[in-house]
Parts: sequence; C-alpha cells; structure tokens
Amino acid sequence: MDELFVRVKKLQQEKNALILAHVYTPPEVQDAADYVGDSLGLSRRSADASVPQDRIIFCGVYFMAETAALLAPQKKVYIPDPKAGCPMADMAEVAEVLRLKAAHPGAAVVTYVNSTAAVKAVSDICVTSANAVCIVRKLPQRRIIFIPDRSLGAYVAAQVPDKEIILWPGFCPTHHRILGEFLTRVKAAHPQALILAHPENNKNVLEQADFIGSTGQMQEYASASAAREFIIASENGLLHRLRTDNPDKKFYPVTPLAVCPNMQKNTLEKLGNVLENMERPADGAGLSVTVDEKIAVPARRAIQRMLELS
Ligand code: 13P
Ligand code: SF4
Repeated sequence: MDELFVRVKKLQQEKNALILAHVYTPPEVQDAADYVGDSLGLSRRSADASVPQDRIIFCGVYFMAETAALLAPQKKVYIPDPKAGCPMADMAEVAEVLRLKAAHPGAAVVTYVNSTAAVKAVSDICVTSANAVCIVRKLPQRRIIFIPDRSLGAYVAAQVPDKEIILWPGFCPTHHRILGEFLTRVKAAHPQALILAHPENNKNVLEQADFIGSTGQMQEYASASAAREFIIASENGLLHRLRTDNPDKKFYPVTPLAVCPNMQKNTLEKLGNVLENMERPADGAGLSVTVDEKIAVPARRAIQRMLELS
C-alpha cells in the first residue's frame, strides 16, 4: 500500500479525526475517507451526534466544510485546502439577495447549499440537488426566489409547474463545459448506455438524460439498474466511485473537460498535512473552518429546515 496513504490512516487514528469526502475528490482521497457522499449525505453525516470523533476533516469545497461546521458546532472542522472554493457559490451575494427579497415580498428564498454561509443566513431554507424538487413542492409559498444555480432552478421549475420560480443567474463552470453535442457523440459510440446527468447541467444535456439526480442519486440508480453501461454527465471524479461500487458495469465520461479544479485541490498530501498540523496555531489554524456566530445562527436554521423537510 502507498506510504502516504498508510501515514494518513495512522495519523487519523492518532488524532481521532473523521474523514469525509465528496465524490468529486481524487480517487486516493475517496479511498482514505470514512464516508464518501453527495452534499446531502455529507451534511447528514456531519450532523450525526452518534459519530464519536471530535474532529472532521472535510475533503471537498469550502461551502461544504462550512456546512459541516454549522451542523457540528461542538466539533472542529478542517479542510485540506481552504482555497478550494466553489465559483458558483461566489456568484451570489447578500445585498442582491436582500434587494430581490424586498422586490418580492411573500416569496420564499430557497438557497442551494452551494452558497456562502452569509447567503444562507438571509435565506428561508436550503436545498441540495437531491431534495430541491421535493422541498420546493412542500413549501407553502407559490413564489420562490431560487439561488444561485439557474440550471438546477430551471429543472425544479419544470418539475413543479404550479410554482413561480425566480432564477438567479449563477451556474457551475464545470458542468457548463459538458456540451449537448459532446453527449450526443458519446451516446452514438455507446448506444446501449443510459445517460445519468446532474441537474447543474445545461438544458440541452438534461434533455438527453435517462435519469437526472444528485451524485448520490446517480450512484443509487446505477447500482440498482439492470443496465450494464452508463454515460455520466457530471464531474469525472464520480466515475471512480461508480466503478469501485459496480465493477461489472461500464461508465463513460462525456468529456475530459468535466473536472472541478477546486475539488482536485484536495490531494492526499494536503490531507496528510492537515492531520499533521491541526494542533499548530500557525499552520492548523488556517486550515480550520469557522463561521461568525451572527451568521451561523440564521444559516444553521436554513440548513436544519432542509434536513427536517427532506
Ligand atoms: P451533489 O450534492 O449532487 O453531490 O452536488 C454537489 C456539487 O457541487 C455538484 O457540482
Ligand atoms: Fe462548485 Fe461546480 Fe465544483 Fe460543484 S462542480 S463544487 S458546483 S464548481
């Protein structure tokens, strides 16, 4: 076994740390994690009071580690690279959300977890790609301000036509590199394969999909399906998970361009580094994730409402 991998697992035991990883992180980081999942699964795991470890190392992007810090205030949360941001989360800002709220009194502000804690704090409820449709359907308000992903928002609007959805113009640069014509070509090469797509994709990709869902829902679908081949319209890190869990099935990416550079910042080396330096004020402090209490209280409320409704 790789020397670095062995060091990470040894340090993890010594430091009593839980390693969580998103399915888009590099394969060796996923293999070192205690739990690998989608945003909803990772939020649930962070909130789970029965988990004995008092430290969480969150391998993912910053908003995900921030969500873990909000849901587990009694634990210390660390991220291997604090510069691993999500460009979509940075596309929404508080002043404009407040302006929209004032312009549409009575509308519910529904915010995708891919957002900053400050934006969550001025929202009524959060959603992930796994529960957005179900939560919007359950809300009493007819008018919804959906922040920040216009692709997921448009997908929700199509599924819940009795609601009026006001879209924010945000998007995921990684999913938007997956073009409809790339997908058509891959499908022509593998006509038996089913197309599984994340709702952050463009409409012309989603129109070709056999199944649309979060990364976790795509995993469940692929494992349960009798089909043997799948084309995955999402970030390519997901293919490692799918191939590991389903060694008898074939998975094809749409394009080598579907790589989230921020998720790839979570290297095994940085994971080892955070475990090694977590107690050192000069190094470890910069890797710990905290949220100002004034923002944390309302942001936590919006995430907890989501967990209650999903
Ligand atoms: P999931 O919640 O489906 O894992 O998606 C998170 C994400 O960032 C997709 O780009
Ligand atoms: Fe953000 Fe897109 Fe990366 Fe997901 S894949 S973390 S939405 S940039």
